Amino acid sequence: MSSVATIKREFIPPHLEVKGGHPLSGVLKVSGAKNSALVLMAAALLTKETLLIKNVPQLTDIEVMSEILLNLGAKVAKRSNSIEINSTSIHNAELPYKLVHSLRASFFCIGPLLTRLGEAKIPLPGGCNIGARPIDEHINGLKALGAEVEINKDVVKAQVLTKNKRLRGTNITLKYPSVGATETILMASCLALGKTTISNAAREPEIQDLAKMLNSMGAKVYGAGTKKIKIIGVEALKGTSHSVIPDRIEAGTFLIAAAITRSPIIVGPLIPNHLSAVISKLQECGCSISHHGNHHLKITPRDISGVDITTSPFPGFPTDLQAPFMSLMATAKGSSKIKEKVFEKRMQHVFELNKMGACIYLEKDTAHIKGVKELIGSHVAGGDLRSSAAIILACLSAKGNSIFTGLEHLDRGYEKLEEKLTNAGSIISREFDHTRSRSSFPNKTISEDNINTQKKAA
Ligand code: EPZ
Repeated sequence: MSSVATIKREFIPPHLEVKGGHPLSGVLKVSGAKNSALVLMAAALLTKETLLIKNVPQLTDIEVMSEILLNLGAKVAKRSNSIEINSTSIHNAELPYKLVHSLRASFFCIGPLLTRLGEAKIPLPGGCNIGARPIDEHINGLKALGAEVEINKDVVKAQVLTKNKRLRGTNITLKYPSVGATETILMASCLALGKTTISNAAREPEIQDLAKMLNSMGAKVYGAGTKKIKIIGVEALKGTSHSVIPDRIEAGTFLIAAAITRSPIIVGPLIPNHLSAVISKLQECGCSISHHGNHHLKITPRDISGVDITTSPFPGFPTDLQAPFMSLMATAKGSSKIKEKVFEKRMQHVFELNKMGACIYLEKDTAHIKGVKELIGSHVAGGDLRSSAAIILACLSAKGNSIFTGLEHLDRGYEKLEEKLTNAGSIISREFDHTRSRSSFPNKTISEDNINTQKKAA
């Protein structure tokens, strides 16, 4: 059954146009890790000396974090993929709502501000399109370190009332291994009086990268990357130069791009043990993966079959790659089940993938997927950063052309994505023309058998 869209002019925002079905080749280059760079930038507030952070990706989230630091009175100098920050003269302990609302990671500043200025006023970051995103663990940790914290009209006001305005080390156990809470407590305890331990700490590589930089600034952090981190408070931290680790989520996205387009390619630089859970699932579903030179992997996809995944904190399967992996499972042989156990609203891509002819049925936190022969190019929209990446991967593998809108999400976390994909053989371009006749949109033809399988699966 096919329906050709009637001719009418329609406004479409800046978007990506993707010609599906083109294999990838060569190398997909991985940038520095967004989720490491953001917290490293916040940590710059802990010292009065200059911090040079290298291998920083050029992303809108990084731009917002730079604006936040400037707003606090820090000096920020950006040079392509390096950022130099000097926060000697920070004078403002308050962050404006408009900046916090656009970047949750701005909440990372609360610990360093408390340490440096003895106070901090930060609007509640609020939920976002993947879940409630509470910050109770951050607040409980700061209170345990001796801060007074109150929430008034959605603004978190924290202060250190002790006479020397210094936090005091203590033992903290997290109810959930929250990445952000571990990072907040880690930064706040570096300059506290005495020893702090964080039990049930998050083990993500970004925590290890933060601890490595803090230690090069003179901090005493032990056990980062394990469930128990110990910090001995010091008197002051100095400046340093630090290079951000490769982005394991971008690297995983590129490995999945190879698998979904059935293209043998090389991905890197990356750190393989940051991706162990993803690599083993890709091997389980039919890809062979081998080391290639320094810090690169070669992936050779064969027949892809459905495999089940459940997301969990590191070293489990990362929630940030759940959506991209679902796109792969949508065209795998046989069925699969994907359970999202970290965030409660991280399935926005299901609707868009089904629009492209996928056969996915959602039941609470679990997606039941029946692989289809092929997806059909469509006019699709991203609802958050990682669902946008998933949809782009689906467009790369689909039959026909697609139009992707939602660049404001994609540009938060993937540096020069269409440039990297074009260099690897994709036909993808960023278009800004605002109106065009609908007839140029991809025909909405979903083959009969896809519709029947969707009905059966539902
Ligand atoms: C970080 O978010 C990342 N963001 C996320 O990446 C990533 O998905 C997440 O860690 C998990 O790996 C950055 O590093 C900037 P959490 P964060 O605190 O710190 C609950 C992306 O796409 N929780 O580990 O917010 C919370 O509700 C982004 O790049 C509490 O209950 O993650 C959630 O269910 C998305 N209380 C779970 O922990 C708290 O105080 C995981 O949250 C904090 C969290």
